[in-house]
Order: sequence, then C-alpha cells, then structure tokens
Amino acid sequence: MITVGIDIGTSAVKLLAMDEKGSVLRTVFREYPLYMYDDGRSEQDPDDWWNQTADGLKEICAGLGDVAAVSFSGQMHGLVALDENDKVLRRAILWNDQRTTAECDYLNNKIGREVLLENAANVALTGFTAPKILWVKNNEPEIFAKIKKIMLPKDYIAYKLSGVFATDYSDASGMLLLDVKNQDWSDKMLEIVGVKREQLAKLFHSYEAVGNVTAEAAVATGLPTSAKVIIGGGDQAVGAIGSGIVSEGMCSVSLGTSGVLFVAAENFAVDKSPAAIHAFCHSTGRYHFMGVTLAAAGSNKWWVEEVLATTDHPKEQQNINKVGKNPVFFLPYLSGERTPHNDPQARGAFVGMNMTTTRADMTLAVMEGVTFSLRDILSRVRELGAKVDTARIIGGGAKSPIWCQLTADILRLKVEKIQTGEGPAFGAAILAMVGAGAFPTVEEACKTLIAVTESYAPCEETAQAYDKRYPIYTGLYNALKDSFHAIAKA
Ligand code: XUL
Repeated sequence: MITVGIDIGTSAVKLLAMDEKGSVLRTVFREYPLYMYDDGRSEQDPDDWWNQTADGLKEICAGLGDVAAVSFSGQMHGLVALDENDKVLRRAILWNDQRTTAECDYLNNKIGREVLLENAANVALTGFTAPKILWVKNNEPEIFAKIKKIMLPKDYIAYKLSGVFATDYSDASGMLLLDVKNQDWSDKMLEIVGVKREQLAKLFHSYEAVGNVTAEAAVATGLPTSAKVIIGGGDQAVGAIGSGIVSEGMCSVSLGTSGVLFVAAENFAVDKSPAAIHAFCHSTGRYHFMGVTLAAAGSNKWWVEEVLATTDHPKEQQNINKVGKNPVFFLPYLSGERTPHNDPQARGAFVGMNMTTTRADMTLAVMEGVTFSLRDILSRVRELGAKVDTARIIGGGAKSPIWCQLTADILRLKVEKIQTGEGPAFGAAILAMVGAGAFPTVEEACKTLIAVTESYAPCEETAQAYDKRYPIYTGLYNALKDSFHAIAKA
C-alpha cells in the first residue's frame, strides 16, 4: 500500500510518499509566499497552498502506483474564511499573527479565563483562531457578514480534494471553540465569538476518512478517485505521531528554533495556572499537553553564530567540561517566553560568570538554560497528572550528543532518537495508512513503522546535581522580572 502525507507548513508544503513498511519512497517540496508585516500581521493565500499542493501531488504521483490514501498535517490556528460560493474571503490570518492583542484581552479578562478554561480548556493566545474571528468581526464587519465556512489551513486542502467540509479534534483544539474534554464544538464559545455551528466543519478523528478524491481534484492532482482523504491533524499532534508519541509515558522534546514539549496523555486535565499549558485532543483519539519555550535551538544559534561568530557547533561543544557543575546560568528568553511565564517582555540573561569562565561554560549554560525551561514545562505537565518517563528528541538541537544527554539528566527521562526526521509529513502518511486500513490503530502503526536508533539514560549523579541547580534557575526569572519589564519600557 502507498500513502501520501501532506504537511501544509508556513513556508512550504511538504509531501511524502510511504509504503506500509515505513519506507519513504519520495518527498516533494513546494514553497509559497508568506506575507509578514512590521505591525505583527502574518498572512497567506489559501489558494497558494492549494495550487502548490496540487502541483506537488502531480509530481509525487507520477509513476508511483496507486495511492490508497492521503492525509494531512497542518500549520495550526490559521483562519480561512469562505463565502456562500466557497470563495476565499480574505487572506488567511496565520498562527504567528500578533494583531489580536485586544481580542485576547477581551476574552481573557472580560469574558474571563475561568469561562474559557471551562468551555475550551485553554486561555486565549494571540495565535489561536477565536481571537482572529473576533478581530474580523470588529475590524472587517463586511467580510464577517459574508462568512459561510470557517476552516483551518489543512481543512481547506482536504475540502478542495474531497468536497467535504471537515476538521479533526487535534487541530480544532487550537481554535478555542472546541470543548476539548467532550470533543464537540462548545456552544458557549460559539456564542461568545458570534459564530454558528453550521459555519464550522464536521468533526472527525485524525485517522478517519472524510471521503474520496473528487473527479475534479483527481485531474488537478494526479491522485486516483479511489484514494481516500483522511483528515489528519495539527502539525504538533501529527509530528508527534511521526515520532511515535502515542501513549501515556511518552513525550517529544523538539529542539527547533523554539522548543516544544509534547506529552501524550490518557486523561484530560486543564492547567489553571498562569503557565497555561495547552490541553488539546491528540490525533490518536485521546489527549495531549504541550508547552512552548520560544528560543531553544534558536538561543544556541544566536549564541554560537551571532555572538561567537562561527557555525562550527561541534567545535564549540568539544571543550565543555563542567556538566552538572557549571557556575554560569542562562535564561533563554530571547524572544520573550510563552510557557511557563507568558511574558513577551522577558529577556535573555547570563548570570554567574567570573574571571575563570570560558566560552565553553557559556555554551554549556545556553543548552542547560533551554533544558531547564523544558523542565519548567514538564513539571507543570506532571502536576496535571500526566506520567512521563521517555522522551523522543527531534529538531536541530538533537544533533548534539551533549544536548541529548543533558536532556536525559535535567529532565530525568530516558531520551531516544528515531530513524526518521521527517516529522509531520511522516505522521500524516501514518494516519493515511491507518485510515486506509493497513493498521488497526495509530499505536499499532507507530510500533511497526518507527524504530529507535539511539538512547540516552539519565546519569543519577548528574541528575542530582541538576536537581540542586534547577531552583537557582527558576529563582532568576523571579529576581529579574521587574528589570526585564523596565528594560522593555526604557
Ligand atoms: C502550535 C503552533 C505551531 C503552528 C505552526 O500551537 O502554533 O505549531 O501550528 O507550525
């Protein structure tokens, strides 16, 4: 059996064809424009996504053999609005668009965090979809009045392929319109935002078929009309599927520009603390928790490439000799911080240097600081009742064996690396396999298709040393918070 995973990213669509043994047969990329403005707006044209996806599908399908199913991973939260003729009403407002500060303020403070947590399991963040809908309502009422369908980025592509207006629980969780616990649209949230159920898509599990490729879409893409369209999910959940994070006990640690700790959970819970851990549906059919530290490998890149002015990361790490006893601490808040502080004005800091401090100590401090920040997220998630003992590490930072071992020691987790770095597109191809019947469950598919290639166990002595240092790290943000805010105003 052959399936194709389609990852609708922010800079490009990535397509990946896979067989039922998990072998990646082909990958294809197609880029599209991203419109970013100085005032924080960030938009894309949904028809660019479609044209490039259709074009990419044509290339991947040529001579491949019959594709049994396709599925999706999508950039989350983006608002796609269609009129009564299914025409796109305005460019999509993306996950990283910052225009909705006033709407978030209204939702969190006027409506109230408690109401949001009770009905949508999360508080409002500028990235989420509901504040974007409110923004259109407040600023473009003539467009708002014409909206017949509200959808997320990948759902637009699924609609173009199948003609079915569908979404899935994982992606819908990031709209702030879903009753995450009960897996249904929240009437209360719809009332608050001013939308009706018929404007929203029918909800499916990520591995469910919503229909088949239509005759028209078959001509545009080269897919057969026998191919099933499996709805897929948000990029974080589907990326987690691609790393095998499917059952309680497992988390992924993604050391990309930002760092994400994603935890698969059996049971639902809501984070009422200011850390605002995201509580979303997972693409497995159950739940997940997620926290984001905004500058992870991004901090390391800044330190090595901008400050030390080199790109030789391995060389910078080779003189590190103070693991567990580094007097230098680093706060990785170079882009402000999301979890746990939710503080856009937080800033980076090095503390603790003396005349004997070396550049290797500073390099180590950066990796330690980012990993302490991930420990902040993990601690909160554990307080919510999730059990975690194993992490799969992905992203650029995972190339460093030192950082992998630090992750094991600071988080006290077994850390594993897997054979594929394809992430969300691979996860989408797995969901398509399950939807097409090659595997009975997502868990079974992951067991067969994902192999562990390296593993790091925590060293008890070093882990104890980091247990003692962690409170020093957490104390530093509290000590410096007022200064960060004063710096932002200065
Ligand atoms: C998740 C999130 C990003 C976007 C873009 O909350 O904001 O993962 O989906 O990749």
